[in-house]
Amino acid sequence: MSTSFFERDKNMGSKVVYQIYIRSFQDANGDGIGDLRGITSRLDYLQELGIDYMWITPFFPSPQNDNGYDVSDYRAIEPLFGTMNDFEELSREAAARGIGLMLDMVFNHTSTEHEWFQRALAGDPKYLAYYKFVDAAPDATAENPGEPPTNWESKFGGNAWEYVPSLNKWYLHLFDVTQADLDWDNPEVRSELADVLRFWRSKGVNAFRFDVVNLISKPAEWESDYEGDGRRFYTDGPHVHEYLQELVREGGIDGLMTVGEMSSTSIDNCIRYSNPGRHELGMTFSFHHLKVDYPGGDKWSLMDPNIPALCRLFRDWQEKMSAGGGWNALFWSNHDQPRPNSRFADTEGYWFESSTLLLACTHLMRGTPYIYQGEELGQTIMDFTSIDQYRDVESVNYYRILQERGRSAQESFDIVHARSRDDGRYPMAWDNTETAGFTTGTPWIGIPANHAYINAKDEMADAGSVRSFVKRLIALRKEMPLIQAGDVRFVDSPSDKVIAYERMLGDERMLVQCNFSGEEQPALPAEGANVLIGNYGDAGAVVLRPWEAIAYVWR
Ligand code: GLC
Ligand code: CA
Repeated sequence: MSTSFFERDKNMGSKVVYQIYIRSFQDANGDGIGDLRGITSRLDYLQELGIDYMWITPFFPSPQNDNGYDVSDYRAIEPLFGTMNDFEELSREAAARGIGLMLDMVFNHTSTEHEWFQRALAGDPKYLAYYKFVDAAPDATAENPGEPPTNWESKFGGNAWEYVPSLNKWYLHLFDVTQADLDWDNPEVRSELADVLRFWRSKGVNAFRFDVVNLISKPAEWESDYEGDGRRFYTDGPHVHEYLQELVREGGIDGLMTVGEMSSTSIDNCIRYSNPGRHELGMTFSFHHLKVDYPGGDKWSLMDPNIPALCRLFRDWQEKMSAGGGWNALFWSNHDQPRPNSRFADTEGYWFESSTLLLACTHLMRGTPYIYQGEELGQTIMDFTSIDQYRDVESVNYYRILQERGRSAQESFDIVHARSRDDGRYPMAWDNTETAGFTTGTPWIGIPANHAYINAKDEMADAGSVRSFVKRLIALRKEMPLIQAGDVRFVDSPSDKVIAYERMLGDERMLVQCNFSGEEQPALPAEGANVLIGNYGDAGAVVLRPWEAIAYVWR
């Protein structure tokens, strides 16, 4: 560990962030969609869990084509989710309980309904220069627009350029066609966005998540990618660090609790993004560990997770980020990922062990843990049975694309079922009643049948529940500088199904062993140590049982 960062590590390492997918957390007005007042009504629950910040997914005005990640006004509240008064009340009530609000800033793109884009469409040169517009061929027509500027693929499928006949230009959209990429090379755009940060700062917000923020700096020349989908040209792009430093400085957020979502990034870049000496961000989300079940990198084909690869990735990201003074966000789950317990473990046979194994594995690492709503309950993958139950634009698109690529309807459904972002976007289960305590109306998306026993009310009353286990992990992190700021070193285990690492601080040492299999595996020796926490109770064992996680300490 770089000792000069000890204070940073202790500070960031003592925090736990809870992610709220606002649409699905709690509905207060019976329209079936979660809202700000719903969150306010559940603050006691969050305080009792012991978290420090809540990251709330975007609640700004938006046509909701990508559930709020298509923002049409950065300084107001989407009426579906409430009013500015509701926001201020939430913020006050959260602060009264020691919980900070982390806002989700979607600065790579705006909705095409944003006033800037609308003015661009009307031909205003100032606003045309806010986006990545490129001239089409002089003879292009709506029916025959010709070739787009590059062959890059949108992350939601199809080409990443859209032709606008009235302008005879193409615009870039790395995501949905209604999410137009901003031109960060334009200083006016950068200054508008810094001003958005100052606006929310003036409302007392002191934590921010930045959506796909390593994609903001596009290359100077438009070049087709004949080896991939284009991402190598715009990921961690040429000016990304410089633009982030400027945003942080001008937005007045240096040293605050911030996290950047980094798509397909590298360790070197994440060290730069999160080393405090560089005045960029507090920490980074990276996703390589969540692709160990993508054959050849393809999200839309299925395979079992490759556990040795998972272990190598954790080892690299833990040890190298530490050596470089970087800081990791620790997570398995968010609103873009299918529930990880079903995906990486076995919720059919070992639901409790699977859910708690994953949580113990990341919560004891070096970094700041994030809990995605319902993860603390062990909520599993959605039990959808037909494609019309899905809501997400990506899932709906890929169900069609997979069939166009020759998969049968059933195969396509099975793939979407395992990969859909809706697998984690269904409502939070508060209790075992018909609508799970989420709404008094009709929920906007289905509710899984297993809320009959996986729900907050029952789990809060049960000392042996997944939620009680997580609560203990959070409490341990608060108590133990070893967990907050200890060095991290991965340990070779006799089994390639086991992920094992040590944390060290002064005279204290911790050994964490996680069995990622349904069979017994040999355990590493732990003579003279005490069990700190384990999902089979507090007695140590000579073998690791199915999906067992156990942490020992020497002190
Ligand atoms: C991020 C968000 C995701 C969204 C995308 C485009 O990956 O987490 O939900 O669709 O960015 O904004
Ligand atoms: Ca509502």
